[in-house]
Amino acid sequence: MVKVAVVTGSNKGIGFGIVKGLLKRFDGVVYLTSRDDGRGKAAVAKLNELGLKPEYHQLDVTDRESVIRFRDHIREKYGGIDILINNAGVGNSKEFFLSYEECKTIIDINYFSIFVIQELLFPLVRDNGRILNISSACGHLSNIRNMYWIQRLSKKDLTVEDVNEFANWFLESVKNGTFEHDDFADNGTAAAYRVSKVALSAITMLQQKELESKNIAVNSMHPGLVQTDMMLGLGFYDIDQAAETPIYLVLDAPDSLKGAYVWYDRQVLDWYDYKADYYFKVDYFKTCTQKGE
Ligand SMILES: NC(=O)c1ccc[n+]([C@@H]2O[C@H](COP(=O)([O-])OP(=O)(O)OC[C@H]3O[C@@H](n4cnc5c(N)ncnc54)[C@H](OP(=O)(O)O)[C@@H]3O)[C@@H](O)[C@H]2O)c1
Repeated sequence: MVKVAVVTGSNKGIGFGIVKGLLKRFDGVVYLTSRDDGRGKAAVAKLNELGLKPEYHQLDVTDRESVIRFRDHIREKYGGIDILINNAGVGNSKEFFLSYEECKTIIDINYFSIFVIQELLFPLVRDNGRILNISSACGHLSNIRNMYWIQRLSKKDLTVEDVNEFANWFLESVKNGTFEHDDFADNGTAAAYRVSKVALSAITMLQQKELESKNIAVNSMHPGLVQTDMMLGLGFYDIDQAAETPIYLVLDAPDSLKGAYVWYDRQVLDWYDYKADYYFKVDYFKTCTQKGE
């Protein structure tokens, strides 16, 4: 049986770095996927120039029909998936406070899309497989300052409804003008992105419970600040360095690592430590842009 790895949103950035790294180490086929065919095929051509041969398929994580086409393709050609890396995502652009429509787009892509993936692709993940959700420093609970939501998201018996209501509460607050800056770290900057990634990391733990019986490990991680388009090229790491921990998590981490929130240096953090200093600070971004870096 041929093993299969799939990386969403991998025509550029960290996803592309992960595909490249997996192609060098993974004993199986690696799928580079992209929402835009042209950008995806151009990325495949770049890897081919390096002598690397990914498989390619179009996959827009917010487009149900696209996910169905991809699901059918994988089912027919390989029968299953061994590694699934949910990397596709969008950031905040240069603005730290966004309109309702912009917030909705971010949360739809970074968070709500996971339910289509969960419904259509998770059933293809084979026993003992590994799923990795690329979250962010913005996905740690310390990004939230509203005590009601801290407590509700920390419940032992957390449900999907809790997490969805959290995302919708934020969206409603932006829509009806009741958004409170103090409900989030750093004066509520990049709040939509923070909400999307906190929700993604929270849902990861529920996904782990669901998939426990198949011994599938589901983790989320912060890849570090990486020099990609999303970060306007600012960051401490290039995409090859950033790919190292995701690849470790899907190939090398112990089987016991499940439902965890992992930092880019492989540290497993306490996601529930809402007083911790792991939240994203936009000052880093501002300082770099002021310096003209
Ligand atoms: N860079 C960082 O410092 C950093 C830090 C923390 C977390 N992250 C997370 O890491 C992941 C990768 O980010 P990156 O920095 O590599 O960003 P990037 O260079 O902007 O790449 C994002 C990728 O996601 C794809 N994408 C966006 N929407 C999609 C959709 N609906 N369906 C399928 N693919 C879609 C993009 O495709 P197009 O080319 O078509 O737009 C692109 O390939 C994201 O989840 C991000 O939130 C990044």
